[in-house]
Amino acid sequence: MAGRWKNDLTENDVTLEGSYLSRRSLLAGMAGVGLAGVTGLPTVAKAEALKANTFEEITSYNNFYEFGTGKDDPAKNAHMLTTAPWTVKIDGMVDKPGDYQFEDIMAKMTIEERLYRFRCVEAWSMVVPWNGFELADLLNLAGVQSGAKYVAFETLYRPEEMPGQKTRVLKWPYVEGLRLDEAMHPLTIMATGIYGKDIPNQNGAPLRLVVPWKYGFKSIKSVVRITLTDKEPPTSWNRANGREYGFYSNVNPEVDHPRWSQASERRIGGGLFAKRVPTLKFNGYETEVASLYDGMDLTKFY
Ligand code: MTE
Repeated sequence: MAGRWKNDLTENDVTLEGSYLSRRSLLAGMAGVGLAGVTGLPTVAKAEALKANTFEEITSYNNFYEFGTGKDDPAKNAHMLTTAPWTVKIDGMVDKPGDYQFEDIMAKMTIEERLYRFRCVEAWSMVVPWNGFELADLLNLAGVQSGAKYVAFETLYRPEEMPGQKTRVLKWPYVEGLRLDEAMHPLTIMATGIYGKDIPNQNGAPLRLVVPWKYGFKSIKSVVRITLTDKEPPTSWNRANGREYGFYSNVNPEVDHPRWSQASERRIGGGLFAKRVPTLKFNGYETEVASLYDGMDLTKFY
């Protein structure tokens, strides 16, 4: 797998490798997993050739407040993090709660390549060639019980290795959450690599959530706990400022952040004078995910 990615993907490469829905997911979708409108290759990928950011860009401009609030702090400090051994506790409304070793999870999961847009709520963006597995596969391994409605996630709390946790910039540990149907959606992955290499610490080693149609802060890093619950779980940024950061946080150019416009974004790597690009609804994954929010007022459920 390593070395298969190019930085300059042609449209053909995008439809082949970056179509982000593997054959397996497509088949699953057609069998009724709930992928509305999947009839072939995704329309957005066809319309826009995604040019992946470089490995250097993806791993040097980060948000990971456990290592500091500067964009270069994670790359400078995250080497302090011990990522092996690594255990993910899966608990709550599951048939098989327990401590799952990272290696045991990896042995059971199918690792795929997904070329995804990544849009931070701060209005910068990248295109990242992730390696990872569908979160649904892990949840199915644990056996989701019928009353479960939400999935809660938690990052490691280890202040001796994560200096940011000695500050009060956020309440620790970092927590996030998804509705169960969002968590089970085939676009939702747990990323374990970038460009075919193990995911670097600053990007959330050894495994982090990636939900490509939501603002980047939903994509919680270095996950140690996944809890199935029937109540909407608290989320770090919502807790810090609920008016500015909602539970859903779907990328939406029509709903501005109270302090800035979300209509456009700055692609990292484009240079200082690069033109901003328009932000796409659901970050370009509208065909695949809009039906999850049918009938919901997206200005209210921001
Ligand atoms: N997860 C944890 N645990 N701590 C964080 O500070 N930052 C979030 C998200 N996940 C964050 C986190 C934000 S704001 C963004 S934009 C993305 O991670 C950044 O991911 P990247 O550094 O891989 O681009």
